[in-house]
Amino acid sequence: MIDHLFASEGGLERQPPIDPTIASASTSYRQSASRIDSFAVALERLLLPSKAYTSQDVFEAEMRDVFPSSWVLVAELDEIATPGAFVATMIGQEPVLIVRDNTGSLNAFANVCPHRGTTIAAGMGNCGTGFECPYHGWTFSTDGALVSIPNRKGFSNQVRQDQLSLRSLRLETWERFIFVNIDESAPALNSYLEAIPALLAQHAISDLSATVHIDDIVDVNWKLLVDNALDDYHLPVVHTHSLQPTLEGMKLREYIGNRYASILCMPLNESGQLQYPPRAELGEEQALSAYAIDVFPNLTIIAMPDGGISTLRFDPISVSQTAVQFRSYSHSPGEPELDEERFASEVLNEDYNVMYRVQQGIRSRYFKPGPAHYLEGRVATFHATLLDLLDEELELS
Ligand code: FES
Ligand SMILES: [Fe+2]
Repeated sequence: MIDHLFASEGGLERQPPIDPTIASASTSYRQSASRIDSFAVALERLLLPSKAYTSQDVFEAEMRDVFPSSWVLVAELDEIATPGAFVATMIGQEPVLIVRDNTGSLNAFANVCPHRGTTIAAGMGNCGTGFECPYHGWTFSTDGALVSIPNRKGFSNQVRQDQLSLRSLRLETWERFIFVNIDESAPALNSYLEAIPALLAQHAISDLSATVHIDDIVDVNWKLLVDNALDDYHLPVVHTHSLQPTLEGMKLREYIGNRYASILCMPLNESGQLQYPPRAELGEEQALSAYAIDVFPNLTIIAMPDGGISTLRFDPISVSQTAVQFRSYSHSPGEPELDEERFASEVLNEDYNVMYRVQQGIRSRYFKPGPAHYLEGRVATFHATLLDLLDEELELS
């Protein structure tokens, strides 16, 4: 089903083509030792230097060139179900506001008052019929129109109220998720997601119930967390007692997408299969495997054979601080939720603890990226897309 994700046509063509016989199970790994060599060496060229994780200039370039041209997960349909319901959030450093208007349509706006720039909404909730800017009290309807200006007579007659609406942004949905892209010329969300909608079509994501919510602030650069979500080599070491016991050894398969998506297939062992009895509709590989799916730049989706999924969203706060949102969804929510939350927290903390150590080590004058394992291919794909979007003037070496 997802064969076309392999790099046969266009996949990572900009850099090393990824050979499916290499990015495959450990038996192929041993049989293809010489090809592993060229593949891994090619990956190494794409690994980012220390500066990419520590420099304010790089961070600003990312906020200018990467996040505003990407489809970013901003909210869920459940959160914005009724007229007036809204979520205020960030795409990189851009404040955005998603609101269901009084006609039932979903809208996304720049969360920026056209008077002096104040963010007109914060957090989430229901605004009723509209928003009032907290600074001078301009009011806006849920479709973004400027409705009233206090002490209107104090402004020039030239001021045109109908030209001071909130700036509208592109919004699209996939399953239960709402995405916004600030770039008006960006491709449609469905093509941006590459093979992911097809892969997860039978998971019935829209029917899932939300179970676990974890929000953390982590003192590391956002890309270290994304790299780590894409690093398929660390599982048996960092997650020895949590994830690894359900996996079929290191029989991991990386599927590299064209540009914005990559997928790790993790075959489950017997105990994993017992824990996640498959949905009848799933294909053979899906019924026996967990998937870690990356959507550029900052979203990871974990999909299980029972149809349950989790999402991880990494939102940059500053060059050295990131907000992490973990959400889990199940077809059979109930009793074991507490365990699920404890388990998710344990896995996240295993990763955070290593990330603090990486952040510390890469600042060293002695650090430069070392050799790449073939299970670091998804990290290299992420870096390739990132480098493609960043200003060419940016000195990264
Ligand atoms: S900044 Fe919003 S009303 Fe003045
Ligand atoms: Fe991990």
